[in-house]
Amino acid sequence: MPLTIDLLTLFPRMLDGFLTESILGKGIAAGLLTVNIRDVRQWSTDKHRTADDRPFGGGAGMVMKPEPVVAAIESLQTPGCRRIYLTPDGTPLSPAIALELSQQTHLILLSGHYEGIDQRIRDTVIDQELSIGDYVLTNGTLAAAVLIDALARFIPGVLGEEKSLTHESFTSKLLDFPQYTRPAEFRGMSVPEVLLSGNHAEIEKWRQARQVEKTRQVRPDLLK
Ligand code: ADE
Repeated sequence: MPLTIDLLTLFPRMLDGFLTESILGKGIAAGLLTVNIRDVRQWSTDKHRTADDRPFGGGAGMVMKPEPVVAAIESLQTPGCRRIYLTPDGTPLSPAIALELSQQTHLILLSGHYEGIDQRIRDTVIDQELSIGDYVLTNGTLAAAVLIDALARFIPGVLGEEKSLTHESFTSKLLDFPQYTRPAEFRGMSVPEVLLSGNHAEIEKWRQARQVEKTRQVRPDLLK
């Protein structure tokens, strides 16, 4: 069964264009996955459509209220679905997590805002908490978009050639090799000779050497 993702956010228009452009847009158009962007305020019951409030105990910013969020998740959830909260204090997203999530049939992604969400939401309707990195965004909507993009690449058929997946950064634990296309000379800079040689064994050797070199320079931690 193809994957369905419900993304709950206070800012649905932040993702205008995201679902129709590029490789993800093609995958969705081809029915390889479905993404529904849901406005949390749809589940607010008061006339101002309130979804956040000041924190008990004081402090800056606003906290997402439990009632609309829990109602939203309870109305969207299906048996066996995974309910994920995007938050900077979550488990760091990795290729292994993206792969595992790409094999599910239903994900509910909750993106928080301001200073976070009421703890009781996390305690009752969240199965997994994920961070996309050690920096803080103004809200989790872009983090949810990053997660969707990263996992969509693991869904068979989303990337044209399956090969481009296996060769890539992070599935091999090495960073990528440099790429060149035409023209063979640009502003006095030539493409490395070996790439024009047609010798596939030599090209493979050269690419692997560049991967190790790049990884040693930029991410020596990956070599350990
Ligand atoms: N929300 C705000 N910052 C975030 C991050 N780094 N990862 C996931 N969700 C977030």
